[in-house]
Amino acid sequence: MKFVSIVMGSKSDYDVMKECINVLEKFYVPYDIIISSAHRSPQRTLDYIKSAELRGARVFIAGAGMAAHLAGTIASVTTKPVIGVPLKGGALDGLDALLSTVQMPAGMPVATLAMGKAGAINAAYLSMQILALEDKDLRAKLQEDRVLKAKNVEIDSREIEKFV
Ligand code: RP5
Repeated sequence: MKFVSIVMGSKSDYDVMKECINVLEKFYVPYDIIISSAHRSPQRTLDYIKSAELRGARVFIAGAGMAAHLAGTIASVTTKPVIGVPLKGGALDGLDALLSTVQMPAGMPVATLAMGKAGAINAAYLSMQILALEDKDLRAKLQEDRVLKAKNVEIDSREIEKFV
């Protein structure tokens, strides 16, 4: 079965990464979710990535804060797409995680998204867009979602808009 794999560095990341899960569930996309740290449990992380690939993981999402090396560690052992979500927390409030996640050396990409909730939600969407390259039904659902989003902008605007 093709699925999305979500790895987060700590239980303290769960509240934000739940936003990612909520979107995947709304679209009925199967996913793994696991806590495993690049620093505290490196072997568990590497073992999990290998087993997830064998079971059909098509894209990995890594949510981590502070010295966030999780996405890069995952990228080091797979050629599947890796999406990084830098999380807030710590003295630098997410800037540390953003720079740790985004500054990968050439040839080892991590698709780094916005910090926090927006990044977690976009990780779900980007992973679905990757799956949708080979899934017509999912592609149609994502297109419908875009139409709905555009309609909602109009509805919101109608409540307050004014023209001279
Ligand atoms: C990172 O350190 C985790 O991803 C988390 O965002 C941060 C703090 O972890 P805890 O000390 O809350 O477990 O590895």
